[in-house]
Amino acid sequence: MENPPKKENTNIGYWEQVLETPTPAYQELFSAEREYLDKHILPDSFVLDIGCGEGRNMQSILQNTKNVYGIDNDPKAVKDAKKRFGEIETVQVAVASADNLPFENETFDTVTFLMILPNLENNKESSISESARVLKKGGKLILSTFSETAFNERMKIYKMLNAPIKKIEGTKVIFDESLGANTSEQFSLDELKSLGEKSSLRIVDSVKVGDIAYIVAYEK
Ligand SMILES: C[S@@+](CC[C@H](N)C(=O)[O-])C[C@H]1O[C@@H](n2cnc3c(N)ncnc32)[C@H](O)[C@@H]1O
Repeated sequence: MENPPKKENTNIGYWEQVLETPTPAYQELFSAEREYLDKHILPDSFVLDIGCGEGRNMQSILQNTKNVYGIDNDPKAVKDAKKRFGEIETVQVAVASADNLPFENETFDTVTFLMILPNLENNKESSISESARVLKKGGKLILSTFSETAFNERMKIYKMLNAPIKKIEGTKVIFDESLGANTSEQFSLDELKSLGEKSSLRIVDSVKVGDIAYIVAYEK
């Protein structure tokens, strides 16, 4: 768990504001994610949360298993998550990049990848392929992301929080450098399907949450 981050990323500050003041659409997403994790995380299984941020989803996962690892490439997020779960011996949090995971092949029963795909820009395929590598055979990758109908909801919250938008290209929003991970994208189910297929992952379940998101389960 000691690989250095590949790049700096400081969008956690913005995300923490979203978590503090979620719009109804985000509230619906967060509650759907909690339900989904509760349904899919098996008791005592080993789970890796990629892009764990300050630990929102780790908190949900901990309801089902205490064997939880979180990684994020933002040192501040990792510091916050460590502080939050420091007392639980079986929880580990480390700075690492999604496309270069410091774990052996086939280590985890489940990998979670929640609301990080929109920010990955050129690292999407390499990060999904790394997730697949560390998953055991038959293990699941649970991913949530903005859906192809999310644009208006995304713009609503960017405006509400005065996010520093530099440019909009179609539905891709590019923020200025102050936000670190400065791109946000949205995806159709077909795009998510082919992204998984490139790493031999197939979608075994999916839900659409309002206009804003998909939550999908891939199996290795
Ligand atoms: C929108 S936040 C979501 C945080 C958390 N998963 C949640 O749903 O509350 C995206 C997170 O992904 C992290 N992140 C972005 N690119 C990353 C990368 N290449 N490797 C690891 N973490 C990354 C960011 O630092 C941030 O904490």
